[in-house]
Amino acid sequence: MILKSLKTYFNNALLGYYPVTEVNSFFYMLSESVLGLKRIDVSLNVETGIEADAYDQFQKALERLQNYEPIQYILGDTEFYGLLFNVNSSVLIPRPETEELVAWIINDNKAKKNITILDIGTGSGCIAVALAKHLPNAKVFALDVSEEALAVAKQNADKNSVNIEFIEANVLNLIIDNNKEKLSNLELGDLGIDVIVSNPPYVRELEKDMMTENVLAHEPHLALFVANDDALLFYRKITQLSKEILNTKGQLFFEINEYLGEETELLMENEGFINLVLKQDVFNKDRMIKGEII
Ligand SMILES: C[S@@+](CC[C@H](N)C(=O)[O-])C[C@H]1O[C@@H](n2cnc3c(N)ncnc32)[C@H](O)[C@@H]1O
Repeated sequence: MILKSLKTYFNNALLGYYPVTEVNSFFYMLSESVLGLKRIDVSLNVETGIEADAYDQFQKALERLQNYEPIQYILGDTEFYGLLFNVNSSVLIPRPETEELVAWIINDNKAKKNITILDIGTGSGCIAVALAKHLPNAKVFALDVSEEALAVAKQNADKNSVNIEFIEANVLNLIIDNNKEKLSNLELGDLGIDVIVSNPPYVRELEKDMMTENVLAHEPHLALFVANDDALLFYRKITQLSKEILNTKGQLFFEINEYLGEETELLMENEGFINLVLKQDVFNKDRMIKGEII
């Protein structure tokens, strides 16, 4: 089979599953990954023969796409903040809105020297790795409850040549007490944290109807969902924990549920955070918030 025929076969097999522009884009991504051909090279090599092994890889990818598996899991990697990250079904696929949160933190902290950052619910490690890369003076810790997610995050720290200390822990079970000794199980040294960031699970079960099949069937529910009646569970717990372990004037940044901006702001304010800033993403949705502790 030649490349031109493979493209026709691929497009026909995915007809009705996705819009044509998306199918074309999948084909070009796979061509780059399997054949090492950039988009322009595909057009210049349409008569090139496809070897059996490459054909098999396209066929397998095709079947996974027909099953609505995200292309990033099929390729095994994705880009975030200009860096390449490994992804698999144990981790959430990094989202563009999270890049906006990272940009905010970098901008706020780039002039500071020797800061310590903790990323709670690190998943693929995208936030922690991007921060470590762009704030080379920062000491970065990253925590997740999922051993499988942490394995991916560690690969991503290595892939991007940054040093991050990973912690396996359930943030909901961490002891919050004025006696900071009780937090020593975190192994965070003297716990002198300047910045805490978290993009915790925040999608309410009731919002499932608005989600697409490829997210619902393939991305980890542990990373996504919270109960309808306690949607801010992680925000409350992380805000209380942050109050205890942040240095004076330390900052807490969250990515948030677009429908719960005001509630999240109120929660942080009630816990004693000041200088709160609620920020919208490029789609003008409430998407991130920061506060400072005195
Ligand atoms: C929305 S994902 C965010 C992943 C990544 N930080 C990002 O922005 O793409 C939430 C992460 O929180 C982790 N998580 C869920 N419950 C947790 C818990 N109780 N303690 C610690 N981490 C938890 C999940 O494993 C998941 O990696």
